[in-house]
Amino acid sequence: MNKNKMLINIGIVAGLSIVICMTGVIAFAEELKPIELSAPQMDRGKLLMQALKERQSNRDFSDKELPLDVISNLLWAASGVNRPDSGKLTAPTAKNWQEIDIYAAMQKGLYLYNHKKHILEPVAAKDIREFTGLQGFTARAPLDLIYVADYSRADGDEKDREYYSAVDTGFVSQNVYLFCASEGLATVILGSVDRPALAKIMNLRKDQKIIFTQPVGYPGSE
Ligand SMILES: Cc1cc2nc3c(=O)[nH]c(=O)nc-3n(C[C@H](O)[C@H](O)[C@H](O)COP(=O)(O)O)c2cc1C
Repeated sequence: MNKNKMLINIGIVAGLSIVICMTGVIAFAEELKPIELSAPQMDRGKLLMQALKERQSNRDFSDKELPLDVISNLLWAASGVNRPDSGKLTAPTAKNWQEIDIYAAMQKGLYLYNHKKHILEPVAAKDIREFTGLQGFTARAPLDLIYVADYSRADGDEKDREYYSAVDTGFVSQNVYLFCASEGLATVILGSVDRPALAKIMNLRKDQKIIFTQPVGYPGSE
């Protein structure tokens, strides 16, 4: 092969590589767009006393997808804005820190719930459900919520931050438990999580701490 031909070939290969890379980036962007959630439906669900009666942990999940309206209502119930004037949430937080972020791991990727806009923001186009708990069922559940405390939004000393963010997560989790009881969904809060491994996979900052995770889905029988 003469020198000119070789240079042309190198040029073609380089050009193709750029096109392939750009296609990859475009495909990534197309794959994971923000998910616009539907407005919460206030006239939906069982009576509170009935939901309390049915609240339970269930570790038997179907892999059936959750409809978008269910995910929308679930996230709002978990920790959505219920008083737009003050921006306060369905779950209380110490000093109104609002430090608990809810990440949503689904087959199509990882998202972050933005409660101000009531949307799911894309984080990564990868399925990390299997890493959200040490019990195998998290890989099967269609949605794994990951509760992450962002200490950059909390003051006080380390002990206060740990203590309050664990309590604050408990409120979010109970909202999810009650919503699931009301909708006939399975859920269980999980402390058995390899937090350092999951934090690495999620590319979290040092001041972001995984507190608990909580898979949600239809019961295994469905
Ligand atoms: C802080 C906390 C951590 C938990 N961690 C796990 C867990 O890692 N794995 C699990 O299967 N259940 C876990 N659970 C669920 C409990 O086992 C469950 O709530 C308990 O057995 C009572 O059952 P119930 O929720 O149906 O009332 C956890 C519960 C709490 C409150």
